Amino acid sequence: MQFVYWGISFIGHVGLWCATFNFLHSTALVRWARKSSEILVLLFLVFPVFFAMWQLIGWIGGGDNAFTLIGSNVAGRAYSVVTSLIAIPTVLLWMSRKLSPKRPAAVIEFSESRKRIESHDGTNLLHGNLAQLLGKLPINETLNLSVDRLTVQLNVPQSLDGLKIAHLSDFHLTGYVDRRFFEQVVARANSFEPDLVIISGDLVDKPECLEWIDSIFGALKSKHGCYFVLGNHDLRVGDVDDLCQRLKAAGLIHVGGIWRTLEINGVTVQIAGNELPWFSGAEYLPLSANSSAQQTTTTPEPHASMKILISHSPDQLKWARPFEFDLMFAGHNHGGQISFPVVGPIIAPSRYGLRYAAGTFQIGKMLMHVSRGVSAEKPIRWNSMPELGLFTIRSAKD
Ligand SMILES: [Fe+2]
Repeated sequence: MQFVYWGISFIGHVGLWCATFNFLHSTALVRWARKSSEILVLLFLVFPVFFAMWQLIGWIGGGDNAFTLIGSNVAGRAYSVVTSLIAIPTVLLWMSRKLSPKRPAAVIEFSESRKRIESHDGTNLLHGNLAQLLGKLPINETLNLSVDRLTVQLNVPQSLDGLKIAHLSDFHLTGYVDRRFFEQVVARANSFEPDLVIISGDLVDKPECLEWIDSIFGALKSKHGCYFVLGNHDLRVGDVDDLCQRLKAAGLIHVGGIWRTLEINGVTVQIAGNELPWFSGAEYLPLSANSSAQQTTTTPEPHASMKILISHSPDQLKWARPFEFDLMFAGHNHGGQISFPVVGPIIAPSRYGLRYAAGTFQIGKMLMHVSRGVSAEKPIRWNSMPELGLFTIRSAKD
């Protein structure tokens, strides 16, 4: 019985510290503060493992076991009661995610094709000892790509029926993954012949990879433009203005904190960007492209036929509500990056935890898609394959 109680308490303990870890990553804390708090959280998280080992040693030695010692301590007892109570919502949340439908009704077709990306000359696409070591793990999907095709039905005019959007996110150019991997991902996006390309942040992690911008992002092709916002990892290049200029010089269009208005098939499409909480701008965004920045009304002006939001973090979905976007594209959470069998992912840098780790969600009238991303800071992925999202819009209007 004692083991059942401590097992429940352990589930609550993991739930509590994973939620703390996820929340910390959703904030704009400076890197050193986030890293130190991360270490603290991880130490708390693994604490029971040491106790379990102590338990085993005590058991073998016939002495007091760790649980008896914690149980005889008032603070230990109180903490175990709290974590046992936390275990209930932890399990309920986990079950609700498992039982809820995979995709909303607006996604009328879905297919995926998965393939490993190889270099044409047989050379390794992973660089550095860490990447090559992780690359040897048979479970590691870092060099795989899932091309996800989604047909979504939206309340947009017939003239936008058939509009094609390629969504790419979280490239994380670090040098661990060879630039040829990303060039092949871009080639696959181009073969879709998209009308719009959307990039939802975390493009370049390391200044050494700035030179890759032309051959990767500059190669993207889109009939009506390639639009991007920055993510938290883009801060790591140091000179963010220089990064932005290079991306613009490569042909990309920045929408962080602003609206862009374009005409497609005779109707107006507006695209806005949100880089909060890492870059300001979106907090001053007027409710529509033609209204003044000082506008205080909360009633959006419905003069656009379609409104698209690009946000690095899906956490901005509440901010998005008054704008009445039709579509929101986000990234940041990487699908948890490591997703355990049965349990699923446990880490996603979001204030919502794992709720929006990846996938498509109906948020009121807005359809939000959270990409697993093309890559990651560390070259390890398991059951959360790099993603290229190819969307075809269908009009729900007769
Ligand atoms: Fe990312």
